Amino acid sequence: MVSTSLVHLVSSVLLFLLSGTVAFDNSRFDNVAVYWGQNSYGAVHGTDTANFQKRVSAYCQDNSIDVIPIAFVNVFFGPGGLPSMNLANTCNPTDNATFPGTNLPNCASLASDIKTCQSKGKILTLSLGGATGSVGFQSDDQANSFAQTVWDLFLGGSSSTRPFGDAVLDGVDLDIEGGGSDHYVTFVNRIRSLAGSAGKNALGGVLNTAVFDAIYVQFYNNPCGLTHFTEPNGWDFGIWDQWARTVSPNKNVKVYIGAPASPTAAGSGYVDPGTISSIAIQMRKSFPSFGGVMLWDASQAVNNNNYHTAIKNALVAAGGTGFVFPTCSGTPAWVSGMNYPGTSKVAFGGYIWESKFFTNTQPSAAAPNTNSDWTALSACSGSGSSGGGGGTGGGGCSGVSDWASGQVYVGGQQAIFKQVLFALSLVVKLPTDSL
Ligand SMILES: *[C@@H]1O[C@H](CO)[C@@H](O)[C@H](O)[C@H]1NC(C)=O
Repeated sequence: MVSTSLVHLVSSVLLFLLSGTVAFDNSRFDNVAVYWGQNSYGAVHGTDTANFQKRVSAYCQDNSIDVIPIAFVNVFFGPGGLPSMNLANTCNPTDNATFPGTNLPNCASLASDIKTCQSKGKILTLSLGGATGSVGFQSDDQANSFAQTVWDLFLGGSSSTRPFGDAVLDGVDLDIEGGGSDHYVTFVNRIRSLAGSAGKNALGGVLNTAVFDAIYVQFYNNPCGLTHFTEPNGWDFGIWDQWARTVSPNKNVKVYIGAPASPTAAGSGYVDPGTISSIAIQMRKSFPSFGGVMLWDASQAVNNNNYHTAIKNALVAAGGTGFVFPTCSGTPAWVSGMNYPGTSKVAFGGYIWESKFFTNTQPSAAAPNTNSDWTALSACSGSGSSGGGGGTGGGGCSGVSDWASGQVYVGGQQAIFKQVLFALSLVVKLPTDSL
């Protein structure tokens, strides 16, 4: 009897561990997305070949990685009408065989790598674009046909030219840094409808109302970056939370802090693991849309003392599920008509705000007022008290056009939310048990 119950206990724990590791859960607060494919470390450490990017399976035993965007499909319409893809030292059109009449490398030997990663509960998405991509659409027809191509070559469709063979990727990530944003709405809608009609997953209902499931905001290489965290006119995660919960078609869209994984991974914005961990935890406790951290890239993170693992551990310690709204009641309620000096703190509209400089305007980060005089420090529940505060601010992350309704913004376009560049991630095939 005693041994029977012991056996039962052990198998329960194992089942719990299995369900905990196998399913990617987009609603969690502790996901870590790490880009793979560009050998960013190798690009800046040309002689240290031993530490160049490894095959993607080398990163799949790593429990601190949940999402791997594979970067990049850098040409949409190449020879033969098919896209091209470049995964640096792992697979590219120069060193590896291409499909006849195309510039698309056959990387089918990565199929087993991809399936191994998926069996570990990770999702792998196809990242389109990159800094030097030849991408974009001239018509809705082009966007529709490219969506069909991506579906047939990388996702649930079928084709004789599948670069990853019978491996089926889990979604599409848009890291579009050039070529404009025209017709991407058409592309996204078509991908979603292909995914929905395939009936592969339980996401259909969400897909029909969502544009994106997650966005990775680049908090680096711009004046809103991690190194500007303490500046009211710099750090602006609160704008993204308000966008996610009030503007985005998918009100449950998750917002990730995008960061460089080492000092050589970006021009600016790198902070040490302790600093990014404490910023991430503060955001996790402040904003319900927070989803985790995105890093550029796997090769840099591993060679920087496993930068991603320190962050993952901190996020897990802070709790992967559940959100308790901070209370508004310790902060004075905003008063219409009152003059507020810079760095005043007020509670208004479900957020605690800090003024960037002297203002008598109403706090708001929602379009069309994204260049607001206020920054949201945290979401809050309840109502504020009475009073005010003082100080001075200014400079930094301002002077960029406001967000416009109905437009899909792409990385490199500085129209949205003050110069924050970002990747949009569209997950089309989550494991069914994740919902
Ligand atoms: C691509 O070619 C390189 C160089 O020959 C080789 O090391 C690599 O394994 C190839 N990639 C694939 C996915 O077959």
